[in-house]
Amino acid sequence: MNQLPYIIDDRETPKFWVNRATMVEQEILDLEKKKIFEKCWLYVGHESELNKVNDFRTRRVGGRPIIFTRSATDKINVLVNVCTHRGMILETRKEGNARNMRCFYHGWQFNTEGRLTSMPAEEDYPAGWKRAERCLPRPAHAASYRGFWFLCWDKEQTQSLEEYLGNATDYIDLLADQACGDMMQVSSGTQYYTMHANWKLLVENSIDGYHAATTHNRFLQMVSASVKESEFDARKGSKARVGVRRKRTSLKGNGTADLGNGHVSIGGSDLSKGKSRGGLGRAFTDSHLQQEHMLRRDEYVKLYGEEWTDRMLGGRNMLIFPNLVINDLGMGATIRAFYPEEPGYMDVTSWEISPPDLSPGLHEARKSDFLTFWGPAGLATPDDVEALARCQRGFESYEIDPWNDISRGMDKSEDELVGAGEVQMRVFWRHWNTMMTGAASELEAEIEPYEKVEKSDLIVRSRS
Ligand code: FES
Ligand SMILES: [Fe+2]
Repeated sequence: MNQLPYIIDDRETPKFWVNRATMVEQEILDLEKKKIFEKCWLYVGHESELNKVNDFRTRRVGGRPIIFTRSATDKINVLVNVCTHRGMILETRKEGNARNMRCFYHGWQFNTEGRLTSMPAEEDYPAGWKRAERCLPRPAHAASYRGFWFLCWDKEQTQSLEEYLGNATDYIDLLADQACGDMMQVSSGTQYYTMHANWKLLVENSIDGYHAATTHNRFLQMVSASVKESEFDARKGSKARVGVRRKRTSLKGNGTADLGNGHVSIGGSDLSKGKSRGGLGRAFTDSHLQQEHMLRRDEYVKLYGEEWTDRMLGGRNMLIFPNLVINDLGMGATIRAFYPEEPGYMDVTSWEISPPDLSPGLHEARKSDFLTFWGPAGLATPDDVEALARCQRGFESYEIDPWNDISRGMDKSEDELVGAGEVQMRVFWRHWNTMMTGAASELEAEIEPYEKVEKSDLIVRSRS
């Protein structure tokens, strides 16, 4: 590790630089595991992935294998997916439905509450040996907010999930409220892919408002062509799509919102009032779908009022620190969680989430955008994968020039910017730096922290 600081946060000049060693050094990844992934609340999954009792999903969260289940008694459980006999991974399927899960090695069997329900030759164990002491272990904490389940491995964690999420709950509400009092539904079909890049590059990329114009140029051209076909106002649409900062409405949060604890969101105003559903999505293929979309919008307005609806459909990319990204871009919404395996290699998992009562046509349109835009074989994500992998390769020269520049917009307010700024990435990096070094920044927050909205002022009828 070079002896340079992780970040240079110079408000005088001003400049914000990030040391590329943070993306390359094994020693730093080891420290991140200890100081970040062992300490923070981490995303596990969405309740709607487990619709029936005894449904289960297996995945790795913070470097450990877990089983996410709905028990026979209809309770969501987060269990460690390791047999208590001699430590083998218990359930090897990615998903399924089973009252009991049987270990392949010696046949110990556990139910979806983690209880050891049967085993061969139990009588051979010594007197006093108890099955009850051999249940599957659990993370120190597991909790949910509006169907989004998280765990925390740290026994010392005193912050509840809701405290940890803080102001980000308003932004999760913007997605969850789209179910109109019901629970949002994760679509079947999970995407698993990897990137030869440091995990923090995907954090940056997920909240990078201006790379689309260059990195995703081809996709934007395609959108533009399809928009023209549908007679959408292409001039207005393309301006919003390339990330030109829109003027804030009276509500905060339509630009960058610093949500505290390293959580941050970027987004814009609802573009769907006119002839398109807005966001980065392609125009609807027929006017019938557009009509259905507008009827749905009317339904939201009836439930929540114009302002909250405008925010809900405004499209936003949100980062829940450290590694959960929720993109809701009008064209659909995706949840994406990623973990470092090596400094230059990460595992990514992503899911599509929709309101449960969408018409089949609208749901198909969202799923199609999920596949063709966000999917690993889509028209945008491969561009990002390539860009990030090239950065990682570029970092091989980090000892020659160790600094990434994330200064854009530092001496300007959001309204003064001609493009999109980078304050959202600085919010992430400052929090990351605080967690890694233990030293809180003595400098003031660069933008006013987001204040929670008084929903009773905004929402016409309360949610369930
Ligand atoms: S390790 Fe699972 S039954 Fe032996
Ligand atoms: Fe991208």
